[in-house]
Amino acid sequence: MIALGSDHGGYALKLEILKHLDERGAPCKDYGSFDENPADYPVYAKLVSDAILSGECEKGILICGTGVGISIAANRRPGIRAALCADVYTARLARMHNDANILAMGGRVVGTGLAREIADAFLETGFSADERHARRISLIEELPESPDNSKS
Ligand code: RB5
Repeated sequence: MIALGSDHGGYALKLEILKHLDERGAPCKDYGSFDENPADYPVYAKLVSDAILSGECEKGILICGTGVGISIAANRRPGIRAALCADVYTARLARMHNDANILAMGGRVVGTGLAREIADAFLETGFSADERHARRISLIEELPESPDNSKS
């Protein structure tokens, strides 16, 4: 199951991506927003990241105007790796090297055709079996929340 979420800036593109994934037969769940009225992107970043962290959904797609705010918000959640992508290469590498579990895009940045290709690349690419990538993800997870002053 793929979780989708957007604010108003990403709403139109989210509908296009939902339609595209539906045509591909990919099961999706839309966590809002459900219209173009101004909406706060952290709300949808939370709903979609909750769906992934709870195991309800395997991956997510988050869209705001630029993709910046909604990816920053999602990446606050431990265990979430949201990758802001505006090209297919980055989407593929975000899966292969970073095991990204959320694709973020900017509804005011990428066109519909490119966004469909980015989503396909993200959803079709697996995580690399190379140990160095798993090690680097573990190192991300071990980063302290506060500055580590013990080594100064
Ligand atoms: C909303 O106007 C806009 O700020 C939002 O969609 C997003 O681009 C924030 O990063």
